[in-house]
Amino acid sequence: MRKKGMCLAGIAVVLALFVGTALQMANAADKTKQKKVLVAYFSATGTTEGAAKKVQKAVGGTLFQIEAEDPYTSADLDYGNGRSRTTVEQQDGTARPDVKKKVKNIRTYDVIFVGYPIWWGKEPMIIRTFLESYNLKGKKIVPFCTSGGSGISGSMDEIKESAKGAKVGEGKDLTGLSYKSVAKWAKKKIK
Ligand SMILES: Cc1cc2nc3c(=O)[nH]c(=O)nc-3n(C[C@H](O)[C@H](O)[C@H](O)COP(=O)(O)O)c2cc1C
Repeated sequence: MRKKGMCLAGIAVVLALFVGTALQMANAADKTKQKKVLVAYFSATGTTEGAAKKVQKAVGGTLFQIEAEDPYTSADLDYGNGRSRTTVEQQDGTARPDVKKKVKNIRTYDVIFVGYPIWWGKEPMIIRTFLESYNLKGKKIVPFCTSGGSGISGSMDEIKESAKGAKVGEGKDLTGLSYKSVAKWAKKKIK
């Protein structure tokens, strides 16, 4: 009888050790599980591209350039001309300029940074084309921009409207920020 009791106690100890180790392993695996990141950006004159590269260098993942099927010329970008392409598009809430190519397997990404210049106080309409081309349900969208001083706030409502089903995090204007500042901000966004 005493022998049987000792045997049962022994089994219990072995089981406890086994369960303990399994839990530790599961915990460690969870900690190392990386979020899959996409850094998508549109840039007409290179400034936002520079910011996007800093973001990607800091958090890794895939860098994707959103390009217009019909590229923007310098005449198109003339905001002093009331009839230039950008002036007309930005005043038309339904404008959705075509993109040249789509992201492959967007469903595999957990966090999507979306970068753009501010045009007429908000995101270029091609950003809405981009966001509305995918099922973004459950994804985390992190907007960033560069601007001449307007900042990102004027674009946030439309970004949320176009990124249906996604969780849109607080956006940031990265104009003129050092790599160190961009990295600090971007790393917080993937936690
Ligand atoms: C058509 C157009 C409209 C712009 N409108 C604004 C604006 O409303 N507010 C602002 O701060 N900057 C504005 N800018 C300046 C850009 O946001 C800024 O130069 C940006 O960094 C350019 O980014 P990119 O080089 O990636 O295209 C505008 C620029 C263009 C071409």
